[in-house]
Amino acid sequence: MIRKKGQTFHLETPHTSLVLKADTAEVLYYGKKLSNAAGCELWSGSPRKLFSQYGGADYTEASILLENADGGFSTAFAFSKSKLLAGKPEIAGLPSSYGESKTLELKYVDAPTKAALYLYYTVFDDTDVIAVSAKLVNGQKREMHIRRLASLQLDLMGAYSVVTFEGTWARERQKQVRTVGKSVFYIDSKKGISSHEHNPFMMVEGEDGVYAFNLVYTGNHKEIVEGCESGRTRVLTGINDFMFRWALAPGEEFCTPEAVMCYAPDEDGASSEMHAFVAEHIVRGKWKKRERPVLVNNWEGTYFDFNEEKILAIARAAKETGVELFVLDDGWFGNRCDDRRGLGDWYDNVEKTGGGLKSLADKIRALGLDFGIWVEPEMINEDSDLFRAHPGFAMRVPGREPTRMRNQLCLNLADEKVQNYVVRVISDVIARSGASYVKWDYNRSLTDCYGKGIAQGEYFHRYILGYYRIVSRITKKFPNVLFEGCAGGGGRFDLGNFCFFQQYWTSDDTDARMRLKIQDGTLHGYPQTVMGAHVSACPNHQTGDSNPLETRFNIACGGVLGYELDMTKFSPEEMETVTRQIAFYKENRKLLQFGDSYRLGDAFGGNVAGFMTVSKDKSAAIAVVTVSEYVIAGEYLSVRCKGLLPNAVYEVSTRPQDNYKDVLSFTAAGDLLMNGGMPVADIFEDTQAWQNSRRLYTRMYLFKKCK
Ligand code: GLA
Repeated sequence: MIRKKGQTFHLETPHTSLVLKADTAEVLYYGKKLSNAAGCELWSGSPRKLFSQYGGADYTEASILLENADGGFSTAFAFSKSKLLAGKPEIAGLPSSYGESKTLELKYVDAPTKAALYLYYTVFDDTDVIAVSAKLVNGQKREMHIRRLASLQLDLMGAYSVVTFEGTWARERQKQVRTVGKSVFYIDSKKGISSHEHNPFMMVEGEDGVYAFNLVYTGNHKEIVEGCESGRTRVLTGINDFMFRWALAPGEEFCTPEAVMCYAPDEDGASSEMHAFVAEHIVRGKWKKRERPVLVNNWEGTYFDFNEEKILAIARAAKETGVELFVLDDGWFGNRCDDRRGLGDWYDNVEKTGGGLKSLADKIRALGLDFGIWVEPEMINEDSDLFRAHPGFAMRVPGREPTRMRNQLCLNLADEKVQNYVVRVISDVIARSGASYVKWDYNRSLTDCYGKGIAQGEYFHRYILGYYRIVSRITKKFPNVLFEGCAGGGGRFDLGNFCFFQQYWTSDDTDARMRLKIQDGTLHGYPQTVMGAHVSACPNHQTGDSNPLETRFNIACGGVLGYELDMTKFSPEEMETVTRQIAFYKENRKLLQFGDSYRLGDAFGGNVAGFMTVSKDKSAAIAVVTVSEYVIAGEYLSVRCKGLLPNAVYEVSTRPQDNYKDVLSFTAAGDLLMNGGMPVADIFEDTQAWQNSRRLYTRMYLFKKCK
């Protein structure tokens, strides 16, 4: 709902209000819902602005920086008009959120250059998340250049800390909290992807509550938080201005990616809003609300070393345990015997697949499993037929030795010819294999960003526009296929991708202890439904640590469950355990995958952590509680549950686990479990604790409302 009084607009969501004054480009209020906007004008004249530019007396980081045709940087955008739109305009070439909504469009013009700036604020009926974007139109007869155009500016009054999710390969989205003070803080990516290092999801927290932000974009991004002397804290998010210089011809327009923001009283509230928003307004297609299959992926089971016999043996064992989907990972195509060759050659390696992809896929389907396939469409090895035939498809700077990562180069996706080629060959892989699932991988970052005829300052964004063109065409062509993205694990885990892929491989690190943190960090901004989570072999291939099979399963239940190991190596006891696990998972899958998900304890500093999903009607819930250290004569441990009905009584029991002799069962009131907590000292009775090379105790609790 958007209410208008003069040029003051009250944007209402179920629990929040954003009040803007269009003619003076001010934010008058953002926070907990107001009964009405009376008195908000009292705030007019405060230093909170809707956008900022170079050329006035505002020296804070600006949301807009233009290089005018005369070479000058100054602009003075002034109010032109406001308009209420039914629904939400599409953003040309870029993915964005969707659904029943209303949009406020504001227009500002810089008189000397006739450049027009449009700001868009969209509200939906069922979420507190507000979508914001900007557009710039060149109204003059000469070319101008955009040096920076943020998607969103939010000016707050007060002191704030900033919470970001940072990491690296195999250690993505580790929570960091910093005080901003009177300084400029930023995170960014210059890697051409949203990156393992700095996820675009961020929270800004103060006495007044939590403001959460994310960007619907897969490329270079930058989030800036600046505290000023006036007491204002400015938040900016958008395309990174690093190397960015976009030419805008007369009459042309440039649209920023969409940013999203929400206000909530606390972190849990902000996470819940973001979860519901992503699940409802970002993820789309047939698989949006559909239960996701339990898969087995052969990567860590075989790496490149497989043949038809080995694959079918794993598939047979998997079928016995109740797995529903077999995913054939890297190594099935061209001369792909290791990671030095073959990328780009998307034709069957007949030897390794025993007669081709279709024949192997048919044999797997004959066993009663669905078939899924791995591809890495944006890459090329120099040792490939594709490179030999089209060396110009690779991204390279002429006259310079290219940077290789994992022995590969990127394709020049900014080139339409290359885009069309990728669409054609990858569509053919999906069609000829009849795959019902595709893992779309991306295993290096951009370095030699250069394409003939493409201005250097435009390259990164043009690559991403090319990428979106490709994924949008392929995902539209195969609406029944479930797509899981991957980028050396979780290196492109962003809302841009979730507009196309319903899931993402969260991290290459499947070690239970590491995964707990990675999944907890991720869960701050993204729902469990989009997180791929696998049980893998021990000792773990990334960390060398070991954990009981039940521990690995419990942690993998924090996302969409899969197994990634050679199931033929299971002992008969392990086969039984896994069969029981999968049966349990299927029975509770709807709750685990689509329930409201909460973080428990403190994964980044506390001894007790975990997660909990609660059914929409709050009659059932599942919690996984973890304790990471056994302290002799230590504290009496408990965990505060979340999301239950305070005035209901729940029957609570533990899932029968191989590593606990007893099954616990008790009844307790919802408010006791949430406010008083649930004692978990018995977690140390793990009979397989000796398998924990670095301690992690986990136990799963089931809640059923009985009164
Ligand atoms: C990346 C992925 C892995 C696997 C390999 C295959 O590392 O993250 O899951 O698919 O590529 O080469």
